[in-house]
Amino acid sequence: MNKEQAKTRIEKLKEEINKYRYAYHVLDQSLISDEAVDSLKKELFDLEKEFPELITLDSPTQRVGGKPLKKFEKTEHQIPMLSLNDAFSEKDIYDWDERIKKLLPEKAKIDFYCEHKFDGLAVALEYKDGIFTIGSTRGDGRVGENITQNLKTIEAIPLRLVDYKTIKTDLIKKGLNQIAHFFDKGMPQDIEVRGEVLLNKKDFEKINEQRKKQGLSLYANPRNVAAGSVRQLDPKITASRNLDFYAYELVTDLGQTSHEQEHLLLKILGFKTHPENQKVTRLEEIFKIHQQIEKKRKDLPYEIDGLVVIVNNNQYFKDLGVVGKAPRGAIAYKFSPSEAITQVLDIIIQVGRTGILTPVAILKPVQIRGVTITRATLHNKEEIKRLGLRIGDTVIVNRAGDVIPQITKVLPNLRLGNERKFKMPLKCPICNTKVEEDPKGIIVRCPNVNCPARSQENLYHFISKSAFDMRGIGSKLINRLLDEGLIQDAADLFDLEQGDISPLERYGEKSSQNIIQAIQSNKEILFNRFLYALGIIHVGEETALILAQYFQQKIGLNQNVSIKNLIKVTSRLTLEDLGQIPMIGPIMGQSIINWFKDKKNISFLEKLEKKGIKLLPVKVITEKGKFKDLNFVITGVLDSMSRELAKEKIINQSGKVQETISSKTDYLIIGKNPGSKYEKAKELKTKIINEKEFLKML
Ligand code: IVH
Repeated sequence: MNKEQAKTRIEKLKEEINKYRYAYHVLDQSLISDEAVDSLKKELFDLEKEFPELITLDSPTQRVGGKPLKKFEKTEHQIPMLSLNDAFSEKDIYDWDERIKKLLPEKAKIDFYCEHKFDGLAVALEYKDGIFTIGSTRGDGRVGENITQNLKTIEAIPLRLVDYKTIKTDLIKKGLNQIAHFFDKGMPQDIEVRGEVLLNKKDFEKINEQRKKQGLSLYANPRNVAAGSVRQLDPKITASRNLDFYAYELVTDLGQTSHEQEHLLLKILGFKTHPENQKVTRLEEIFKIHQQIEKKRKDLPYEIDGLVVIVNNNQYFKDLGVVGKAPRGAIAYKFSPSEAITQVLDIIIQVGRTGILTPVAILKPVQIRGVTITRATLHNKEEIKRLGLRIGDTVIVNRAGDVIPQITKVLPNLRLGNERKFKMPLKCPICNTKVEEDPKGIIVRCPNVNCPARSQENLYHFISKSAFDMRGIGSKLINRLLDEGLIQDAADLFDLEQGDISPLERYGEKSSQNIIQAIQSNKEILFNRFLYALGIIHVGEETALILAQYFQQKIGLNQNVSIKNLIKVTSRLTLEDLGQIPMIGPIMGQSIINWFKDKKNISFLEKLEKKGIKLLPVKVITEKGKFKDLNFVITGVLDSMSRELAKEKIINQSGKVQETISSKTDYLIIGKNPGSKYEKAKELKTKIINEKEFLKML
């Protein structure tokens, strides 16, 4: 191949490789295999080796190959690289909007452009006649470091901008004629683009895994690695990190009038921009986007720490100017951090419904994810030991996801010397009874079943949503009622009158009426909910349902499900009986037996019965639907069960019970002394069955 031929071939190879690079790194499209691209690169490399005078700055072979530097040269930013002021709440955004409105003409229509705020490293890229020439870090905003060699290794950064003719055509297609005009005489001489260098989360994890294997210390986050990688003196290290780049600012004036146009133009020039960036017209849209992105943030391939909101109109943006180092026309609307640093003011003990003593850290109030955190559970004394926590310590509190706040780390270096060690009390702080420890020495319990802390917690549990579901009553009212001596246990709630509640401050006529209503309307309760409400240790909602079905069976079909019958069947209950239920293990079983053995609990049940609490049987799961699509009418008195129970049984089998006979009735069940329905059934030729036949059908 002569030089002339080589030149043509080299040009074509460069173009081809660049096409695949662009498709893969900017458009996220894989057109051919990596191996195929590699072999094109190899051919190019060999040709350039033969004709080194044909090597150009934008050749893909120039991405790697630079020699390690001794140090980075400084480079000045003609236009300073600014930073952004932060906003943390909707209010901050409203305030910002107010501030900028005051500075712009009264009638100005202000649109905003919203983008992901990448958590990487800001860099500036300078192109001369369309060729990448200088890439630099932000530095102090005015002077950065020349890291061109390293940035060239990032495939998402174009070494040459798209051909000016193509750009012009694309711009006209998009209706951006005024910008197209800038490309009339070829590529504008100087173009500066800014954006963020990133490392994706997966690559970050891979790097850390590798380091772990090598016994090296782990990196804290992808941003640190990205920053460290572009500041390597040896570009080979940078190349090995698989960094990415998103463009977000076109510094050069090419006639763009809005930030939206700027992004469009960046894309046309050959840069990767984020596809979810968008223009909005109202602040409320910003809030919505913020919420949506914050929710899916953890699933994004890159770390982002908020939104960047920019006044879309470039003239307004310019007019708004700069305060300090930040433009007035843009703001970083941060996601609320899931961690904060605060101080442990005290450690208190909470005695739970089951008598367990739980240490709780009282914190100096701190905002995390938009809520003020004042306490964090410490679980047990092992956890305090594990953290090495002392009262007075400065700590990191984390509220990741929807979980309750946790202390994740103590910062012992910040101790002043007056911090105190914490010891679990030997006596219950509520009733002064000597506490007991479990054999492992982790869980501490107050053994006093009459401990007031327990009744209070029992009460909260009794009224809770999955139990009696007494809406409108909260722990505050319960505390108040206990303090005033109006109630002693949950059964007393059913004796309350409106006049008991309305004198309590803050509870007016209407709300006290609602409270009484909420209590009285709950006198009939499903059996499983009732069992759950009792607060038997280890009996959760699911176990309660299984127990209800089991007790119902024990009570027998010809008996009512009632508190009285519950007491009856549980008085003979043994661990062996319960052992037959697959879901109930020995610990749970023993806890259930103990509860029903306790005389205090039985008198509580009797008290509830006296207040008129009625239990509704739960559906017993059977081989479903024997009576599907069948309509029944019942008349007369049945021997073996009440009409109500018969009704329940029909419904349990997916049948329907009607009040009157019609042509749609399939069966009339007759008991003793049937009424006029019997006559009607005969008239309509409805099938008539007696109780025995009905039981057989069942
Ligand atoms: S716009 C006038 N857009 O935020 C300032 N900055 O810029 C224009 N950052 O550390 C900057 N994502 O690295 C802009 N989509 C984005 C950004 C972004 C991240 C960072 C940038 C710099 C800081 C301030």
